[in-house]
Amino acid sequence: MDLFEAMEGRRSCRAFLPDPVDEDTVLKILQAGTWAPSPMNAQPWEFVVVTRDAVKKELFNEADQRREWGQEVSGWKWLGGYRVDFVKSAPVIIAVIGDPKKTGLDSFQEEGGVGYQHACAAAIQNMHLAAHALGLGTLWFTLFDRQVIRKTLDIPDEKTPLALICLGKPAKPSPAPPRKEAREKTRFLR
Ligand SMILES: Cc1cc2nc3c(=O)[nH]c(=O)nc-3n(C[C@H](O)[C@H](O)[C@H](O)COP(=O)(O)O)c2cc1C
Repeated sequence: MDLFEAMEGRRSCRAFLPDPVDEDTVLKILQAGTWAPSPMNAQPWEFVVVTRDAVKKELFNEADQRREWGQEVSGWKWLGGYRVDFVKSAPVIIAVIGDPKKTGLDSFQEEGGVGYQHACAAAIQNMHLAAHALGLGTLWFTLFDRQVIRKTLDIPDEKTPLALICLGKPAKPSPAPPRKEAREKTRFLR
């Protein structure tokens, strides 16, 4: 698949078929993640691949509670109709864990280092594109309390769970949310 076609055609998928995704395919997607750039090539990511139903159920419970919390704190009514069932129905969940120590010179910034988060985000996007090129759907999911996810996935306090990637065959095509033209977002200092 052409790279530009992949970037434009990738969509967030929130409904998955139950068909399993084999481990070689998951590893191919993870490997694509590891080709992302990172500060001083520190590769600050780790992955936990969840296919166990009981663990997916725990992740779903947390996501659903967090959805309710989000509705309360934001007052956004649409969250009442937003369902997070994909967290338990996706055949695979990849948790992306960042290591704040692996953030390069960025760590000397007054406000602390965030380079590791950027690198993990780049890895996540690579994985989304790789999955899309393989005919699979993904969702970048962040509606969770980090402490709860640490406990569920046995992650030490010094590492940061940054995202859950829901992965599987899409149950239906997802419409493309519109994008503004790059020109609208750009200033040229010529
Ligand atoms: C950092 C980040 C966090 C996101 N968190 C969520 C999330 O918690 N739940 C969700 O349904 N989508 C989440 N998304 C997906 C966005 O809603 C989605 O990318 C956006 O609406 C554009 O749609 P598209 O991905 O189909 O182009 C997240 C995306 C990013 C980049």
